[in-house]
Amino acid sequence: MEKATLTIGYTRLNADELTADDRALVEQAKAACATSYVPYSHFRVGAAARLSTGETVCGSNQENAAFPSGTCAERCTIFYANAHRPEAAVETLAIAARRADGHFTPEPITPCGACRQVLIETERRYGRPMRIVLYGERETLLLESASDLLPFRFDADAM
Ligand code: THU
Repeated sequence: MEKATLTIGYTRLNADELTADDRALVEQAKAACATSYVPYSHFRVGAAARLSTGETVCGSNQENAAFPSGTCAERCTIFYANAHRPEAAVETLAIAARRADGHFTPEPITPCGACRQVLIETERRYGRPMRIVLYGERETLLLESASDLLPFRFDADAM
């Protein structure tokens, strides 16, 4: 028997410590919250992806009366990016969330498990790290690779 430990590294920053590019991407993620369709949760999530072409694409959560049929902002954005520019890697993904009271969350939200699997497979598909910027009013988190979000992911190599 052997006990093991996994550690991940990430950076905690104030929004004003972000690079100009990352700050601009965060602003796009915040703006994308306005495009959510959230009649059930009233919780708006926006995401913005910067592609290797230099373009950015945005997405938001889209809900449905049959709850599992809706999708999170992260998957909406990643699948849109991949369908729009299949040849382009997603270099950075920024995520922001706005509560029903109209305020952005003080702490960043972190992607759900299903989105983490998708982000990691997309990263792997293009063979380069996808940086993740998680915006909160009080602090922002920066991860250098989507893989850091899910150490025990399901890996296609297992099949
Ligand atoms: N949601 C996202 O879009 N991204 C996340 O990271 C967490 C949750 C959405 C799904 C649903 O529309 C609402 O937030 C409440 O769970």
